[in-house]
Amino acid sequence: MGSPRTRALRNSAALSVPRRATPHVVSRNEPTLLVRDTVLLGDSIDLLNSLPEASVDLIFADPPYNLQLEGVLNRPDQSLVDAVDDDWDKFASFADYDRFTRDWMSAAQRVMKPNATLWVIGSYHNIFRVGSIMQDLGFWLLNDIVWRKANPMPNFRGRRFTNAHETMIWASKSANAKNYTFHYDALKAGNEDTQVRSDWYLPLCTGGERLKDANGDKVHPTQKPEALLARILLSSTNPGDVVLDPFFGSGTTGAVAKRLGRHYIGIERDPVYAKAARARIAAVDPLDDEALAIAPSKRSEPRIPFNALIEAGLILPGAELVDSKRRFRAKVKADGSLVLGPATGSIHKIGALAQGLPACNGWTFWHVEKRDELIVIDTLRQDIRASMPAD
Ligand SMILES: C[S@@+](CC[C@H](N)C(=O)[O-])C[C@H]1O[C@@H](n2cnc3c(N)ncnc32)[C@H](O)[C@@H]1O
Repeated sequence: MGSPRTRALRNSAALSVPRRATPHVVSRNEPTLLVRDTVLLGDSIDLLNSLPEASVDLIFADPPYNLQLEGVLNRPDQSLVDAVDDDWDKFASFADYDRFTRDWMSAAQRVMKPNATLWVIGSYHNIFRVGSIMQDLGFWLLNDIVWRKANPMPNFRGRRFTNAHETMIWASKSANAKNYTFHYDALKAGNEDTQVRSDWYLPLCTGGERLKDANGDKVHPTQKPEALLARILLSSTNPGDVVLDPFFGSGTTGAVAKRLGRHYIGIERDPVYAKAARARIAAVDPLDDEALAIAPSKRSEPRIPFNALIEAGLILPGAELVDSKRRFRAKVKADGSLVLGPATGSIHKIGALAQGLPACNGWTFWHVEKRDELIVIDTLRQDIRASMPAD
């Protein structure tokens, strides 16, 4: 079944991708070693159950959405809307979909390393069911990310709002998994020193990135944009990590993982999609190590107390620190504390007090004045770090 085009594809050799000699087909319960950088052909639940326990660093899942489409959908000019009506997206009931979700998700949980995380993307059709099952299974929700589509499909019937986003739930394996990977500082540095928000504005996958067959038709109806996967992998994996995608489709996760120096394992039960994914990934060139190096996290940098700036002669006792607008002035004491009016305390405490806030990062709030110029004291701290011998 599936859309006429998808059916035609399966029945023809129209797809312009090279054939692989023997596809890796794994049958139910056949134990599988963790073969990295491979596309496994078969059912995701069976295959996940056959993989070694605690062996992958991240799972990205783009499961069937259970779109429940009824009838055909036409545009105002009567052309047919290319909706997802494939068999793999059909379930007899919500209960059936929930059972399927519970099964693949608990199988996924087993293969995750203790500090691995799971990303699941979905739409309003399924994401609420997915989220509640995730919590029932003990996953700990870290964020829900809204992917705002720059170029969404209009609502042709004009009976609802334009459906312009999808939701991704990001979760750790359990509530006590604290050391999951998240490159907070690197992401912030790439975002003009502003925290990256949970709403991502990205276009749908179109143009040259969209896989087409020899007839110019889409190879896969729901190919995700590479930029979306790149953000996910850059934020929550390290180079060399193993990324598993149990609903691999056209292999977007594998293509991005390879480009970013991560290993991938894809599971896909449709041989046409699996073949297209393999060919797509084979054409990807990985970036070099320099391009992939992750900006060091502030948390991993050596701790420098404010006192060290005085000891290094960068700030003298008795000097005044000011905020960027020169509204507040605090005096530096010889022991490294600050004085503001009757109050004495750390750079953070006095910064917070000056602004009437519960907390403040004194390193970025206070400045020294040098020949009318303001220098944020965090710069002086960085100078000390830079002068320290490497480990
Ligand atoms: C939403 S699509 C994923 C698209 C993919 N993210 C991409 O960018 O191309 C879901 C895919 O899961 C596959 N699939 C559905 N049920 C499956 C199952 N039980 N085992 C393995 N693959 C399955 C479908 O064939 C389909 O290609």
